[in-house]
Amino acid sequence: MTVDAGQVAGAAYIVAALLFILSLAGLSKHETSRRGVGYGIAGMVIALVATVWVVAANAWGDPQAMTGLILLVAAVLVGGAIGLWRARIVEMTGMPELIALLHSFVGLAAVLVGWNGALYDTGLEGALADIHHAEVFIGVFIGGVTFTGSIVAFLKLSARISSKPLMLPGKNVLNLGALVVFVILTVWYVITPELWLLIAVTLLALALGWHLVASIGGGDMPVVVSMLNSYSGWAAAAAGFLLNNDLLIVTGALVGSSGAYLSYIMCKAMNRSFLSVIAGGFGIEAPSGAEAEYGEHREIDAESAADMLAGASSVVITPGYGMAVAQAQHGVADLVQKLRERGIDVRFGIHPVAGRLPGHMNVLLAEAKVPYDIVLEMDEINDDLSSTDVVLVIGANDTVNPAAAEDPSSPIAGMPVLRVWEAQNVIVFKRSMASGYAGVQNPLFYRENAQMLFGDAKDKVDEILMQLAQVPQS
Ligand code: TAP
Repeated sequence: MTVDAGQVAGAAYIVAALLFILSLAGLSKHETSRRGVGYGIAGMVIALVATVWVVAANAWGDPQAMTGLILLVAAVLVGGAIGLWRARIVEMTGMPELIALLHSFVGLAAVLVGWNGALYDTGLEGALADIHHAEVFIGVFIGGVTFTGSIVAFLKLSARISSKPLMLPGKNVLNLGALVVFVILTVWYVITPELWLLIAVTLLALALGWHLVASIGGGDMPVVVSMLNSYSGWAAAAAGFLLNNDLLIVTGALVGSSGAYLSYIMCKAMNRSFLSVIAGGFGIEAPSGAEAEYGEHREIDAESAADMLAGASSVVITPGYGMAVAQAQHGVADLVQKLRERGIDVRFGIHPVAGRLPGHMNVLLAEAKVPYDIVLEMDEINDDLSSTDVVLVIGANDTVNPAAAEDPSSPIAGMPVLRVWEAQNVIVFKRSMASGYAGVQNPLFYRENAQMLFGDAKDKVDEILMQLAQVPQS
């Protein structure tokens, strides 16, 4: 009995698809996330081996297919080596821009697959040819938008270009107009598949992707990253239809829908509707002069902070991007342990968009082996903050900004935040009075119950640990 390579690959693809689903399920909880990553890696290895095997089986005795096999193996080796190198050197704080760049590759691949599908004579006729042409067009369009959109997101997140929104006059009409033109061109291409139409839709998609993301303000970047994640999934699914590859369709749909759901969660966390993210300019810089209205800020040193902590019975820590920059999570974990040994109740309050990528703080705290059961989400901790003795705001800013809750004219008005100002005492760890990612002033720093602990968060946490050792246990 001869083994058909295509059938074996088909079976392997089903196993890989199941592993990807298990991976997503695993990644949804702290406790199972490591297993989830394992399933994902196993699925990807099976998918790659099966794909190379099918190509190898067909290459036997066919020089053209052999060239394809050599190119495939070379591409996998070169791509794998670059991926491994980048993943090893990337800082945790650089992950969002790396992810944005990777999304752009998916977009570019979908455009190339689409063009290949258009130039390659499939021999299809009638309705099947029409469907093929529509697939080509849709794949190129989604891929093009994903490609340039992800490049702009990469440039913004890595601060190579300003994160301020580009405000072209009539920008919403431009976006809507591009969609209408796309629909018209698609119908036209299905009826008469001429090359210039394909060139036109490619240029249109590239311009739309660029404009769409360039118009979105810094504060909305979390949604944009997950939105592009979703687009890259749909682009991969479109490529899967063209290549007749079931696994690519399933995987693309998984990424597309989970990315869309993540965008929905992000929008909810920021109290934004998806349309207002696309249409709005959230995160436009606050008018200058706002600082003067808030008065004086107060400062505290590590010694007094240690005394205050030693005298507290409940402490909540709200970490943010600065904790990641300072790599303070290990010191923070030690501090938590020391405080708990003194019988103090210590918990964490995690804002859904703290840091620069979904789950950023959870990953850092897990890495520092902080017990999961004391790491609570914003909604779980917010009502307890008013009865908390001390809140330590470690490198967070926008996510604890009272202006979001109290000042309707603030650019981040309406975004749910951790209500740390309701606690008895707040200690804010940061290096200066600078604003956070959204470029908005933070009145918390001027509140009567708030004190600033200036300096690198890791250094300050280490200093507090040293001072705490001197304070006798009561
Ligand atoms: P941010 O508002 O970004 O503020 C971080 C603060 O950390 C800064 O004010 C900075 O002040 C301080 N900091 C930086 N390095 C530090 C260091 N070494 N030691 C001590 N402090 C340091 O942080 P957040 O509260 O986490 O809010 C996240 C923001 O990023 C939100 O606006 C969110 O929309 C946006 N964003 C989130 C994501 C996702 S998915 N989470 C993705 C993209 C954008 P100094 O410079 O004065 O030290």
